[in-house]
Amino acid sequence: MSEYRIRPLETGEHREAWDLFRASLHVSPGSDEEWDRAALSHQQRRSVGAFGPGLIGTARSFDAELLVPGGAKVPLAAVTGIGVRAGWTRRGVLTSMIEAQLADFTERGIVAATLRATEGAIYGRYGYGIATHAQNVLVDRHRARLRPEVPPGGQVHVLDLGDAVPQWPELYAATGFTRPGAMTRPPVFWGGHESQVRRLSPFPRTAVHHSPAGVDGYLVYYVDRESTPVKLHVPGFHYTSPEAFAGLWRFLLSVDLVDEIALMYRPLGEPTSLLFTNPHTAKIETTHDETWLRLVDVPAALAARTYGVAEPVVLEVHDRMLPANDGRYRIGPGGVERTGVTADLELDVDTLAMLYLGEWRPAPLALAGRITGADEKTLARTETLFGTERNPWCGTDF
Ligand SMILES: CC(C)(COP(=O)(O)OP(=O)(O)OC[C@H]1O[C@@H](n2cnc3c(N)ncnc32)[C@H](O)[C@@H]1OP(=O)(O)O)[C@@H](O)C(=O)NCCC(=O)NCCS
Repeated sequence: MSEYRIRPLETGEHREAWDLFRASLHVSPGSDEEWDRAALSHQQRRSVGAFGPGLIGTARSFDAELLVPGGAKVPLAAVTGIGVRAGWTRRGVLTSMIEAQLADFTERGIVAATLRATEGAIYGRYGYGIATHAQNVLVDRHRARLRPEVPPGGQVHVLDLGDAVPQWPELYAATGFTRPGAMTRPPVFWGGHESQVRRLSPFPRTAVHHSPAGVDGYLVYYVDRESTPVKLHVPGFHYTSPEAFAGLWRFLLSVDLVDEIALMYRPLGEPTSLLFTNPHTAKIETTHDETWLRLVDVPAALAARTYGVAEPVVLEVHDRMLPANDGRYRIGPGGVERTGVTADLELDVDTLAMLYLGEWRPAPLALAGRITGADEKTLARTETLFGTERNPWCGTDF
């Protein structure tokens, strides 16, 4: 018999689980006030616990939707709060909790799950693959000169936190949910997000961009005057037009008493350096993994997205944890069907997640041994089918 058992947590057990999660990250238990805020980010009936006999492990999720290539939305579980008590690690507790989560997701019709990983070695074995990356970018404000063709932008209004918080959901829905890989932000997300922003700074502000047609961009920023050089940090930045991108940049460059502008979690390929007369004004500091994606229901996920125009390919998918996904899928411009014919290539479900949003190209995945059996022509066809016009990006940290 196993030395622990897994079951859903009752609402009254959430705080103990939250403290356990903090302890697993070497953070002391939270105060009553911190818990009051954190409780807002806990969705009911979405936490599991491992008991042996006291609580020794926990994992939770909240319900959202994922924007997939072509514009459809699919049910998404955003997985977070994973921790195992010191002394109980490496005994399979996490594996058992993930199995319980995946069984629950399958039962509830969740098509995909996503998480952010503290360490890269953990989640591939459970079928999660890195589907999007993000970048941190640093701009030297004193050297920054905008090129003459950069649009003038519209009006920018600055809101303090109290005024901004009630407007964030609408601002994000209008300007942030645009690229493949984006996720909806339900009320439980916003509950947690406010405390996350408060932890970053006592005085975070929100700059909203208005064009004649309406609001088309916003960013969240704060200035750290204790740092040398003085940094303005931008943890969130969304826009839907070149005018808003330029207008918000003009605003950022106008903020006084700032030496550097530090942007977090930007999409790959965002042309920040191209705004400036000297492109070296903007430096990519780090590129890091963003979305770890798990296709829970492969047939539904493949059917939900659109494909480019190329001869169909037959993929043979292997899924050790959810064998219902195992099988061959014929993918073409017209859609997807299960098939019994010989496969053109084989891949595991974590690699399929890496292809799915369009960031990874098939050729490097084959070079790394993650796709097998395909010749160059097949890889080129697969690239055309799965490629997307814009780099996928989530832009939501949770
Ligand atoms: C990460 C954590 C949840 C893993 O829990 P666990 O119960 O020890 O995991 P399991 O025993 O089920 O391990 C499953 C497999 O993952 C491997 N693994 C687990 N954590 C790992 C890590 N940090 N680095 C590398 N491999 C890891 C195990 O070796 C094991 O591999 P095996 O099946 O080949 O033997 C736990 O170590 C923890 O709480 N860490 C600190 C908090 C944290 O990082 N949380 C994750 C937030 S995203």
